[in-house]
Amino acid sequence: MRSLLFVPGDSERKMLKAADSGADALILDLEDSVALSRKAEARQMVASFLAEANNSSAPFPKLIVRVNALDTGLTDDDLGAIVRGAPYAILLPKAGSGADIQNLSARIAVEEAGAELPDGGILIHALMTETAAGMLQASTFAAKSARLSALAWGAEDLAADIGASSNKDENGRYTDVFRMARSLTILAAAHSGVDAIDTVFTDFRDMDGLGAGCRDAVRDGFSGKMAIHPDQVSIINAAFTPAPEDVERAVRILALFAAAGPDAGVLSLDGKMIDKPHLRQAERVAQRAGLEPQALSRGD
Ligand code: COA
Ligand code: MG
Repeated sequence: MRSLLFVPGDSERKMLKAADSGADALILDLEDSVALSRKAEARQMVASFLAEANNSSAPFPKLIVRVNALDTGLTDDDLGAIVRGAPYAILLPKAGSGADIQNLSARIAVEEAGAELPDGGILIHALMTETAAGMLQASTFAAKSARLSALAWGAEDLAADIGASSNKDENGRYTDVFRMARSLTILAAAHSGVDAIDTVFTDFRDMDGLGAGCRDAVRDGFSGKMAIHPDQVSIINAAFTPAPEDVERAVRILALFAAAGPDAGVLSLDGKMIDKPHLRQAERVAQRAGLEPQALSRGD
């Protein structure tokens, strides 16, 4: 999933617009972009939008719902309103540890049962750096729930949690704590075997800045990026789509390893050594390109 576009859950207009944005996924927000007085209305709007998407024959982006954090007392009402619409995933903000993922997973399971949906069908994405606790517990997110499929990072709430007046220095570069949040997300995602999703770029008129941020994110191992404005989507999609020459090289590496069999250690390609790390990298590129691993290992 390359682009994940945030849409305030209390704006029908924006939800409709977002559906045509070209984003791989929409994050229908019930949390920070919705005022407390509008939460109930937003739940109903998001539920209707999910139902509309389920009944539509047109291709739709994947739909993710950001619920309110577990300590707000609002999460169960959020889940009660939207799980029956079978969203692709629930995004948990301010995740404090792997135990929160397990807790959310159990709550989703109850709602799935009530709605007669298959157990475990709805995935979990988590924002794991919005609190100091979440960062310090980064290693606990792994293996707590089979639903967990992506970890993302956020910088705005963390600034509030630690009392920082800004998350960037005078040159516009994230300060150390926020760079650490970004790094921990990459590490925790790899440790958990899930996708790492880069945070939003809030200056939505600065396309050069967004492009540069996307290139950094691809280089450092993120598989996608969250967006806040439809104009950001095409830039994100382009950046996170592997170049044809990279895909071609990845396919050649996978075919070489497949032909060499399970005991292959070190091989050579175009006069250069390739070994296990290259294989893993090639697998990631192939996955990002949407190629089917079995077909590749058969050398089709
Ligand atoms: N999803 C869908 N449509 C959006 C959108 C979004 N995230 N952001 C903007 N649009 C629409 C606007 O409604 C407008 O449509 P219209 O011309 O039909 O009215 C069009 O795109 C152009 O918008 P623009 O005028 O450039 O921006 P804006 O001032 O209306 O909105 C924001 C700016 C930041 C308020 C808006 O982009 C937004 O709501 N972003 C998401 C915020 C969010 O969910 N935050 C939580 C996570 S950090
Ligand atoms: Mg927030």
